Amino acid sequence: MGMKCRVCREPAVIDLKRHNANFCHPHFVAHCEEQVRRAIRHFAMIRPGEKVLVAVSGGKDSLALWDLLTRLGYPADGLYIGLGIDDYSDESLDHVRRFAGARGLTLHVVDLATDHGFTIPDAAAATRRAPCGACGLSKRHIFNQVALDGGYDVVCTGHNLDDEAAVLLGNVLHWDLDYLARQHPALPAAPGFARKVKPLYRLGEREMAAYCVLERIDYQVEECPMAAGNRHIGYKETLNDLEARSPGSKAAFLFGFLEKAHPVLGRGETDDGVVLHPCPSCGAPTPGEVCAFCRLRARAIPVTAS
Ligand code: AMP
Ligand code: FES
Ligand code: ZN
Ligand code: ZN
Repeated sequence: MGMKCRVCREPAVIDLKRHNANFCHPHFVAHCEEQVRRAIRHFAMIRPGEKVLVAVSGGKDSLALWDLLTRLGYPADGLYIGLGIDDYSDESLDHVRRFAGARGLTLHVVDLATDHGFTIPDAAAATRRAPCGACGLSKRHIFNQVALDGGYDVVCTGHNLDDEAAVLLGNVLHWDLDYLARQHPALPAAPGFARKVKPLYRLGEREMAAYCVLERIDYQVEECPMAAGNRHIGYKETLNDLEARSPGSKAAFLFGFLEKAHPVLGRGETDDGVVLHPCPSCGAPTPGEVCAFCRLRARAIPVTAS
């Protein structure tokens, strides 16, 4: 009676319809390790001896990623960015600090308010736009800055299969060829930019939550309060409906894109021929006068703050 582990026939703790398999705790962990190992190998994400930085939000995906990288023998330092989103940000930092502290891992913390004079709510108010644009821009900027300053070869993020499939659906619905060309689990380094990789692209949200629960990783369960209504949430629901009817369709959608469509897309309308020069304010490479992050900061710093 009951589900049995595919590997050892002991009682299983999780069923993965997509893999047509059930696993016990140890073999589920082995499955997660194997998926990350395959991701890293397939796209040469991390090479031996490289210095690795992992961007950690305090959520399940990025903490599970940090744990898995460490297990697989890739010692990685963490980077947490304080976005200034009230209690949500403070609690997220607590989760990251506890995780790193318990394992003796190195954690860098960049706080937008302390280090740059503004928060994501300030930026959203100043630009009168959804916060996600300012948030993504700020995160990318800081990932790069910390990677370059610290001599890191590669920045890992916790984007999972569900995240990547939802972004892909959005890009396909709009036939945004430029975004499609840049949607990849491993973006190569360029002058002034570290390599960026997504070693969890083969593992789903449910797998990452199960990993954290089983491995007793205490994570931030709340979603970002500013991201409510984000269109990707609707795409995720749509894909989950498809997945429920036909298990494996999410993975087929994403992996098929990566294997068959991405290679013929070319590099999109890249910045070939666009001359980048250092931002006079922060040094980041930019095609414009001042980089997008410094322009955002100039708008977002509350005018009352002299
Ligand atoms: P999200 O954009 O919130 O879906 O997060 C995607 C990935 O970006 C996470 O898995 C993390 O690797 C990284 N990330 C998100 N928020 C932060 C943060 N505040 N500090 C550091 N990394 C983050
Ligand atoms: Fe960026 Fe919430 S995490 S707006
Ligand atoms: Zn087993
Ligand atoms: Zn700048």
